[in-house]
Amino acid sequence: MTTSTPLEPVDSFDYVIFGATGDLTMRKLLPALYRRFAEGQIPDDARIVGTARSPLDDASYRERAQKALKEFIREDEYADDTVRRFLERVHYVSLNGAEAGGNWDGLKSLLEKDAAEDRVRVFYLATAPDLYGDIARNVDEKGLRTASSRIVLEKPIGTDLETARKVNEGVGRHFPENTIFRIDHYLGKEAVQNIIALRFANPMLERMWDRESIEYVQITAAETVGLEGRGGYYDGSGALRDMIQNHLLQVLTVVAMERPASLEADALRDEKVRVLTSLKPLDRDHLATSVVRGQYVQGKQDGKPVPGYREELGDDSASTTETFVALKAEVDNPRWQGVPFYLRSGKRMPEKLTEIVIQFRAAEAGLFGDARPGSRVRIRIQPNESIRLPLFVKQPGDRFALEEVDALSTLNDPSRVVYRDSYEGLLLDAVKGSPALFVRKDETEAAWRWVTPILDAWGKDTQGPDPYEAGTWGPDAARELLRRAGHRWIEDIAG
Ligand code: BG6
Repeated sequence: MTTSTPLEPVDSFDYVIFGATGDLTMRKLLPALYRRFAEGQIPDDARIVGTARSPLDDASYRERAQKALKEFIREDEYADDTVRRFLERVHYVSLNGAEAGGNWDGLKSLLEKDAAEDRVRVFYLATAPDLYGDIARNVDEKGLRTASSRIVLEKPIGTDLETARKVNEGVGRHFPENTIFRIDHYLGKEAVQNIIALRFANPMLERMWDRESIEYVQITAAETVGLEGRGGYYDGSGALRDMIQNHLLQVLTVVAMERPASLEADALRDEKVRVLTSLKPLDRDHLATSVVRGQYVQGKQDGKPVPGYREELGDDSASTTETFVALKAEVDNPRWQGVPFYLRSGKRMPEKLTEIVIQFRAAEAGLFGDARPGSRVRIRIQPNESIRLPLFVKQPGDRFALEEVDALSTLNDPSRVVYRDSYEGLLLDAVKGSPALFVRKDETEAAWRWVTPILDAWGKDTQGPDPYEAGTWGPDAARELLRRAGHRWIEDIAG
């Protein structure tokens, strides 16, 4: 059966974006809202209100929005008439959300114009996270928060445990937790949600999903891009904060969690928190054996020379920000004790690839002769989402020789794709008030609690990241990390 779940239109809403002239709004938010509008999921009287400091009016902001749509959606999705109708829904209020002075009245009267009292309001914060508390306070104190309001927080929530708590407390003073939607766009990816189906809808796998059967797990998020002009943000962040603390740990929680009592938001999130709080701490003593950080130097990508990280940043940069992290995590509970979870993420890798590899234990020698290597389930998150389940079958012929075949399920059949981008579903989940695919306060803090000692230890370590050539899979130490346990990264196994 090859169906997709039909999409219901959502109730009408106002989406107020703080940071509306920024890269994320242009690249992701407006295109995502446009696509949902074009698919008929967004009612005609919904409004999108951009706010930022730039002194723009509706017309000039619409021009920018139109340019962004031209650039970031596919040509066959861009229909002049639909774009025109969509842009009529777009407004702009020049406002510094972090300051109490400013045109809050203008924003308020726009939101109150022609709108029922219970109309959904979503405040989307896509600014620097240290402003989130102030923006939430102003929205509340200026009387903009209604009973049907929610607030969406873009990552990163803080830069360590302390700042994350500050952000959570600042926003939490003005919005109840059940109206706070912390977005992690990896949870919007179909293949990530599919892990839940794969694990809990297939008893065969569910029964084998533990330390008895699984030798190790790899989660890789590799990117070919370098800084993409985001040096200002990235250099203060690095791969651990930018990718591991949120996206990769979120994927890990879904791979490792116990069966939730239901698919309700809190049931899911309770189990995810349990995974995060069961992670064995990685402090200074474990750094040398469990964590590798790297920074790319000049190299080649697709045969073309590309500059190193420091060159990209600026001539005399001596930055020690890591653009690559590989680490060994352990979930210290009865299901997973002793099973390494290798996480790795890097910029300027040989290919764009996000994949989970579940390595099952080897079969003992017996009926079919020599011991066979264990099977491997591969869940490709992007590109070309797929799930590969290998099975041994007999080779044709007289001998009883075995071969491995893949039961492959492709998840990206173009005729069934619903969301082209993970933001699409998530943005409307916020409208619907469905928080299952958003990160709860205690999840964020548990993730930071685990990550912060690594950052602290790096801060005291004068050695800095290991260099690796752009276009390679990171420093040798990343390979060594697995080799010590007799394991290999997937590209070394599969070629
Ligand atoms: C973002 C990071 O959260 O995720 C970026 O800030 C990264 O540095 C991006 O490039 C990766 O997302 P995706 O969906 O392309 O894997």
